[in-house]
Amino acid sequence: MGGVSPEREISLKSGAAIHKALKNLGYNVVCIDVGHDICSVLEKERIDIALLALHGGYGENGSIQGMLEVLGIPYTGSGVLSSALAMDKEASKKVFLYHNIPVPLFTVITYESSNMHKLPAIEFPLPWVVKPVAQGSSVGVSIVRDEGGVSLAFEKAFSYGPRIIIEQYIEGKEVHIGILNGNVLGGVEVRPSLEFYDYEAKYTAGLTDYILPPEISQSVYERSREVALSAHTALGCHGATRVDLRVDSKGRPYVLEVNTIPGMTETSLLPKIAGLSGLSFPGLLEEILRGVIEKEQ
Ligand SMILES: Nc1ncnc2c1ncn2[C@@H]1O[C@H](COP(=O)(O)OP(=O)(O)O)[C@@H](O)[C@H]1O
Ligand SMILES: [Mg+2]
Repeated sequence: MGGVSPEREISLKSGAAIHKALKNLGYNVVCIDVGHDICSVLEKERIDIALLALHGGYGENGSIQGMLEVLGIPYTGSGVLSSALAMDKEASKKVFLYHNIPVPLFTVITYESSNMHKLPAIEFPLPWVVKPVAQGSSVGVSIVRDEGGVSLAFEKAFSYGPRIIIEQYIEGKEVHIGILNGNVLGGVEVRPSLEFYDYEAKYTAGLTDYILPPEISQSVYERSREVALSAHTALGCHGATRVDLRVDSKGRPYVLEVNTIPGMTETSLLPKIAGLSGLSFPGLLEEILRGVIEKEQ
């Protein structure tokens, strides 16, 4: 938990909720705030399993997973490659395209090319969604509705890294699907009162309505579940993931991303989705731990 990504505060909250629930279940559990001294801390603590609640950055891009592999410590969730692919919105979209999984039209721009005024022609109309390629929690994301907003959106996204992605804005509904140990858990419809599901809408109580299950037809829900599971499988993910989708006015789902370490406070979306299928927060954690044992066998 913790770490140094912009999602540090959320990660500390996920970690604290997990710690409390596992302690109540009788596990011997220790909270570790991941810093540069992580190897010596792990040597001292001698843990059996790492339950990862480290959102964004090193926690979600395969780095911590690689280190745990080297140290021989089993860990929850996706492996090195799957984590790295899922964290990189360019790489994951290319894998999705290969598997015919629907994604919004997109183009990637590097800082170098934008500086040299060699921008590729963007062949889809405004509005666009501009995002850093490898962030989470909507950090650095903007919706651009007219040409005047382009440079500010680019500047904001580039402040988080040298590649940005520009996507076709999908008008419609937002549906997030939870996956657990290879099965679909269910979904939630996310209705922010702000322009989109940005950082504020995600983490300020009362700014977003969550509808469980989503208010979409049974067939659109089925299709969304299928597409989400295909995205999880295409990246080779394990354990619990939350797949973010947009569903357009014709009921067609598009994958935005797969979150390999989804938020895990008791009121986060994945626990809410689990609750819908009768799985409590402690029950969800035990399933996630069970997933590690299965992965190791
Ligand atoms: N192509 C899109 N069309 C419409 N809304 C989008 C699109 N891409 C992103 N968004 C909005 O921005 C939010 C964050 O985008 P997402 O790709 O999930 O990145 P993050 O990793 O920051 O969560 C989404 O939850 C959605 O509200
Ligand atoms: Mg998202």
